[in-house]
Amino acid sequence: MLRSSLLRAFLAWLLFFACLRLVQPPIPESGIVLYMSIASLAILVYLASDDERVRSIASAGIRFARAKECAGIRVALFLVLSPPYESRQIHVSPPANILVGGKLVKYEEVVNPYRRLENEKPLLFQDHVERGKAVYFLHCFMCHGAKLDGRGMFSEAFHPPPLAFSGQDTIAQMEEAYVFWRIQTGGAGLPPVATPWHSAMPAWEHELTEKEIWQVILYLYRATGNRPQVVR
Ligand code: HEC
Repeated sequence: MLRSSLLRAFLAWLLFFACLRLVQPPIPESGIVLYMSIASLAILVYLASDDERVRSIASAGIRFARAKECAGIRVALFLVLSPPYESRQIHVSPPANILVGGKLVKYEEVVNPYRRLENEKPLLFQDHVERGKAVYFLHCFMCHGAKLDGRGMFSEAFHPPPLAFSGQDTIAQMEEAYVFWRIQTGGAGLPPVATPWHSAMPAWEHELTEKEIWQVILYLYRATGNRPQVVR
């Protein structure tokens, strides 16, 4: 009697779930969770509506919780029901090669071609910084913030959030080659260790020229007073 009513309840639950999944156009995940919660509640009410049934379910539950023979199953159930451990690396290691000018170049050999102008031709350098600023305020500030603090107007919508460039823990610890690679390939270019969360950082390789990417990098460092790590 107990087995058959539990089995029937479970089958009804499963059937309802399958029907929801078949509805076209598909019901959004949040809707499925809502309907299934209501269905689960209704099934619980049905199971609880008979005293005899409630008693036999309760004693079966207690038996399961106490019986030595069930220890293995209890551990297995615990493992299955535990939420998966989510680790995510925010700053992943750079790739061995980076695509520059249509060619794969060794990471160590990739340098910002305008960086040397900083000492050699300061006025020209300043010009590149200004162009980088224009790129930033056209394409980046809505996420990374007008103050480069990661608090742009869209920033709240993303998880992981856009990173701040001000402060000592992002670009201050990076080589320009790394920053170039991150801007070029965005969240899509991150290796699997960066999952399970999905970065909203766009890949800019098709939107911006390499020159514009190097210029915006100059601006990121200049505006925050940070210095890039020097490529070995
Ligand atoms: C739609 C929102 C969005 C826009 C627009 C955007 N970013 Fe991002 N960006 C992110 C998010 C989210 C992250 C953090 C996740 C990650 O590292 O991929 C990020 C990360 C980065 C990083 C890595 C920083 C670090 O410390 O690892 C750099 C560099 C960067 N963005 C530069 C830019 C530049 C330059 C632009 C404009 C050309 C830009 N982003 C536009 C959302 C955005």
